[in-house]
Amino acid sequence: MQKVKELLNKYSANQKPFVFVKTYGCQQNVSDSERIKGIFISMGCILTNIKEKADVIVFNTCAIRENAEHRVFGNLGQLKNLKNRNPNLLIIVCGCMTEQEHIGEKIRSIFPFVEVIFGTNFIGNLKDFIFESLRKRSLNLKKSIAENYNNLKLRRDCLSEEIPRQRDNKITAFVPIMYGCDNFCTYCIVPYVRGREVSRSIESIKKEVENLVNLGYKEIILLGQNVNSYGKDLGSSFTEVLREVTKIDGDFWVRFMTSHPKNITKDMIDEIASNEKICKSLHLPFQSGCDKVLYDMNRKYTRKEYLAIIDYAKLKIPDILFTSDVIVGFPSEIYDDFKETLSLVKTVKFSSLFTFIYSKRKGTLAYNMKDNVSCEEKAKWFSELLKLQRSISASIYSSFVDRNLKVLVKESRNKKNFGFAKTNGDLVVNLENYKEEFKGKFCIAKIIGFKERVLRGIVTSF
Ligand code: 5AD
Ligand code: SF4
Repeated sequence: MQKVKELLNKYSANQKPFVFVKTYGCQQNVSDSERIKGIFISMGCILTNIKEKADVIVFNTCAIRENAEHRVFGNLGQLKNLKNRNPNLLIIVCGCMTEQEHIGEKIRSIFPFVEVIFGTNFIGNLKDFIFESLRKRSLNLKKSIAENYNNLKLRRDCLSEEIPRQRDNKITAFVPIMYGCDNFCTYCIVPYVRGREVSRSIESIKKEVENLVNLGYKEIILLGQNVNSYGKDLGSSFTEVLREVTKIDGDFWVRFMTSHPKNITKDMIDEIASNEKICKSLHLPFQSGCDKVLYDMNRKYTRKEYLAIIDYAKLKIPDILFTSDVIVGFPSEIYDDFKETLSLVKTVKFSSLFTFIYSKRKGTLAYNMKDNVSCEEKAKWFSELLKLQRSISASIYSSFVDRNLKVLVKESRNKKNFGFAKTNGDLVVNLENYKEEFKGKFCIAKIIGFKERVLRGIVTSF
């Protein structure tokens, strides 16, 4: 560690080095970046939001869809000027994209100024990667980025509890409870880039949550690609995590994501229903409303089974709100199949939907499936789905007008007298009488209207 500090200092004229970390993609990546930032801070660096000022730039990348990768490539291209201006700048690319061999090679050949490339499960090796890279510079050796890249499969230590964490937020905390995914949905790159499922022990999860609650965190978001298969490797279950974590004393609530319909148990829904600390919202991706497409996606549930879970949850938790992910234009999907997606959306009535047009991912099973539908056609289906969802969201949002809701006030979005909060069901509320003193508190807000997917509210008691 000392050696890395010395080297970093040398490359930044004996001042504390500034580090810029850009995160692409999902909450898991946000959580990984918190660890990356924690490591840099432990090495005596300072975080900056201004990349022009940085001595080290880190891109923590996402591979889920092609456009996520395009964005990273575009932004990497822009770093060339910064590198020309400051040859000592250390550029690091990590995360899901780099776990794909062909992408690693592409980065090395098109952006030779990227000196460190490593994958999602190797954050614990970050100090070694930096040291190696800077040592090569100081020894004046020819840069061997390939060597660095080959070292990347060193050890998978995502479970390491020792990696420090610099949290972005003081009210909401992401707590990963497991890493990786074993499901191999045929469209999805995640199992290839994040590896097999491994669960953290309940004790370490509980200890982390206890610390967070003592620090004043009010919202704990438990993270995993498929939280419902938590503990398969430990003989435990997700319901047990929920029970244990919510036994902790304190005024906080718990959310979790992402759930997989094939692993949801009635037991878990009963726990949500009876446990005051668990938010009454469920993110439950359905991906398609058509059995044939679900089968081709390897989702391992049918439309009927999905709807049975929704019905059970609605029965046990009448005020529950659902959100979901859906893919439009999976290979082999025809308009009649897509109509079943529309009908499922009408039946469930999600408060909001994360909608994606299918994106071909090299290495996945769907990559070689025949795809006869044009992009234009898929875009038309997509708009139809958005239009339908907009009207459903509007009717759900309007049902909250004139109601008093418990909300958790988050940070002010801008300097004006204006802030935002989240309801228990995970809806955003803009508070028209926001005051700094509300921040981080549970308040009661009267809902006075809504605009698109944002409620308007006034705090009436706190
Ligand atoms: N194309 C489009 N969407 C995808 N997702 C995952 N892989 C792909 C892909 N290849 C979506 C799924 C998943 C969400 C995180 O991203 O809906 O639930
Ligand atoms: Fe991807 Fe399926 Fe795993 Fe979700 S459950 S991360 S969609 S493979």
